[in-house]
Amino acid sequence: MGRLEGKVCLITGAARGQGAVEAKLFAEEGAKVWLTDVLDEAGAAMAEAAQGTYRHLDVRNEDEWSALIEEIVSRDGRIDVLVNNAGIFRSDTMLDTSLEDFRNVMGVNCLGVFLGMRAVAGPMRDAGAGSIVNISSLAGMQAASGAFAYGTSKWAVRGMTKTAAVELARRGVRVNSIHPGLIETDMLDQLHVDPERMTRRVPLGRTATAMEVANLALYLASDESSYSTGSEFVVDGGLSAV
Ligand SMILES: NC(=O)c1ccc[n+]([C@@H]2O[C@H](COP(=O)([O-])OP(=O)(O)OC[C@H]3O[C@@H](n4cnc5c(N)ncnc54)[C@H](O)[C@@H]3O)[C@@H](O)[C@H]2O)c1
Repeated sequence: MGRLEGKVCLITGAARGQGAVEAKLFAEEGAKVWLTDVLDEAGAAMAEAAQGTYRHLDVRNEDEWSALIEEIVSRDGRIDVLVNNAGIFRSDTMLDTSLEDFRNVMGVNCLGVFLGMRAVAGPMRDAGAGSIVNISSLAGMQAASGAFAYGTSKWAVRGMTKTAAVELARRGVRVNSIHPGLIETDMLDQLHVDPERMTRRVPLGRTATAMEVANLALYLASDESSYSTGSEFVVDGGLSAV
């Protein structure tokens, strides 16, 4: 039996990167997976590979969230897991961050997570069970010098996770955050840092594959993590320990 057997799971930003790997892994573990993104072609192809269902969802759009959750609940009867994975990165210092960039980053990384949690909290609360996994970052645990808006948004994800976890705990809904370090996806390329320089400070001496984050997301999505809520889970090769 799979570790997510029969669970209905929704993953945002699942057209590529970590979200795509999570979708495939969750499906292999027996989940019914809904993949969402704004990259519709890639998202649909990924859904086919994961034997899941793709829907367009811009995480900033409240109406799209309502329509999707309504569809999932009417087709599958419930929603067990939400992985708030969609995110964007901008590299600018605080002084160089434009209002537009700040709003864009907060819109996807912060507002998107809030709207997602709020959209699924109703059906999860009614069912008396659910797991929400919010993808923050190491940038949500320490200064993100040179990525001001991004770091701000990821600290907000960490904070929202804790408050939502406490508010929903008595209703059987768990909320946790994952804090990845350097993960080999398109986003890492946006750092424009020489790979050797990047990994020099990482105790394990390397970047991580998306699967190494997906394995942690799987644990938090599953009932194996039944006593964890409001917690931070770091997957960074020891970077935050130095
Ligand atoms: N790669 C890293 O090193 C790293 C480190 C720490 C945290 N993270 C976080 O991990 C998560 C996944 O990122 P990734 O590394 O897979 O990068 P990625 O860029 O490959 O994937 C991000 C996905 O989010 C989607 N997305 C962007 N804006 C969206 C919107 N408005 N609505 C819906 N989807 C949208 C993109 O289309 C893309 O498919 C992000 O939240 C990111 O901040 C990444």
